[in-house]
Amino acid sequence: MKAPLMALLGTLSLIQASPSLADNINGKNLYLQRCAMCHGADIKGTGPLAKKSNPPTPDLTTSAFKKRLNDYPGVIVSSVIGDLIPRTLQENGVKLPSHAWSVKDFRDLNQYMVGAISESR
Ligand code: HEC
Repeated sequence: MKAPLMALLGTLSLIQASPSLADNINGKNLYLQRCAMCHGADIKGTGPLAKKSNPPTPDLTTSAFKKRLNDYPGVIVSSVIGDLIPRTLQENGVKLPSHAWSVKDFRDLNQYMVGAISESR
């Protein structure tokens, strides 16, 4: 009776270590609330503000970006920094409450986007 229980616990901890896309609600919410207005729910650069900046918002599901992500695994998290996002939001009258990013937020957001990008074609 012990072996199946251990197997179940092992499976559970695996699931916890790598939650599926659907389980990563924090990452998904962060993306939808703070990125999708430009990048689009589909990550293809289809949000309402996508064409309001110069350069416009790129499609992040292309093979070129998949390669970039593979070469620079930190590219998603580092993209949150900079003035392009707040400037474009401000120019278009979009008010986004500031967010005190935690390391977990960055991990969740990164995991959500990497998963969504890898499932896209
Ligand atoms: C105001 C519109 C806007 C918002 C909001 C926005 N982005 Fe972007 N994003 C852009 C634009 C425009 C570029 C292209 C910038 C460039 O080429 O210099 C970009 C580029 C990127 C890239 C590619 C960077 C690279 O070096 O290849 C990533 C990854 C990214 N954004 C992630 C995010 C994440 C994560 C969020 C949410 C936290 C976000 N973006 C929110 C407009 C936006």
